[in-house]
Amino acid sequence: MTTGKTYFISGANRGIGFELAKHYLEANPDNIVLATARFPASATALNELAVKNSNLHILKLDVSDEASIASIDSQLKDITDGVDVFVSNAGIFSESRGTVLSTPAEKWDKHLKVNTVGPILLFQALYPYLTKRVTKKVVFISSVAGSVASFNPAFPTDSYGLSKTGLNFIAKAAGAELASEGFIVIAVHPGVVSTERGTKTFDEIKADTNDEVAAFLDSLMITPEESASFLSKLIDELNEEKNGSFLNYDGKTLPY
Ligand SMILES: NC(=O)c1ccc[n+]([C@@H]2O[C@H](COP(=O)([O-])OP(=O)(O)OC[C@H]3O[C@@H](n4cnc5c(N)ncnc54)[C@H](OP(=O)(O)O)[C@@H]3O)[C@@H](O)[C@H]2O)c1
Repeated sequence: MTTGKTYFISGANRGIGFELAKHYLEANPDNIVLATARFPASATALNELAVKNSNLHILKLDVSDEASIASIDSQLKDITDGVDVFVSNAGIFSESRGTVLSTPAEKWDKHLKVNTVGPILLFQALYPYLTKRVTKKVVFISSVAGSVASFNPAFPTDSYGLSKTGLNFIAKAAGAELASEGFIVIAVHPGVVSTERGTKTFDEIKADTNDEVAAFLDSLMITPEESASFLSKLIDELNEEKNGSFLNYDGKTLPY
């Protein structure tokens, strides 16, 4: 019997998603990794990884496009009948450091579509595949920026923050809805991570703040490899007690 599991990771052509895909391929040659990219042809690093790993499958997916989400079923059918772990990682933080009053409709819509509604619709599409396995783990990569209890006025990230608050709510709601079916659904903050996007964002925040806050942010920074390693440990160790929780990458519970 195989010891491997099947992992579906959205937004895996770069950043945390890419490192997670790489991590699972290295962790066990029996793992199957289903990694999505909006533009597979230009996902160079992922394509290079696929050349060396026949158990890596690259799927085309734009989570802001319903037709693209619907196409996941036909893309998956020939590869696998089941998925053990769904990591909803794809997300944007697009010029998001606005305030409630200054953020236009288009920015609220964009963040909600990619960071909240897209992951929900993708979960709906993957549900039949997750029910085929006993593992049934669903991990929404969220952000501490979505924690209402930890709201920090020093970092106004309103449309991004709202979209991740919504995602946290969905983890709680889906966890409750599907607990009796054996699902474990969580939201997780992956850390302050030095991906290209993370570094750019935190440099912008630091430029607007004082040395003390900037030094604090620097002290929190971890690499994408470290984040992926922490996340995979957390995902491996998930049990039903964690269902519906919002966790830090190191496993500590975060307040909603
Ligand atoms: N980095 C941090 O410090 C940090 C902190 C808290 C939370 N997070 C969360 O962690 C996750 C990954 O962050 P990251 O730093 O690795 O970001 P990243 O390097 O910008 O990567 C984001 C990934 O999401 C994909 N993506 C964006 N829009 C998409 C769409 N409409 N459909 C499908 N895929 C899409 C991107 O694809 P393309 O290459 O095609 O754009 C890319 O693969 C995000 O959900 C983010 O909010 C990150």
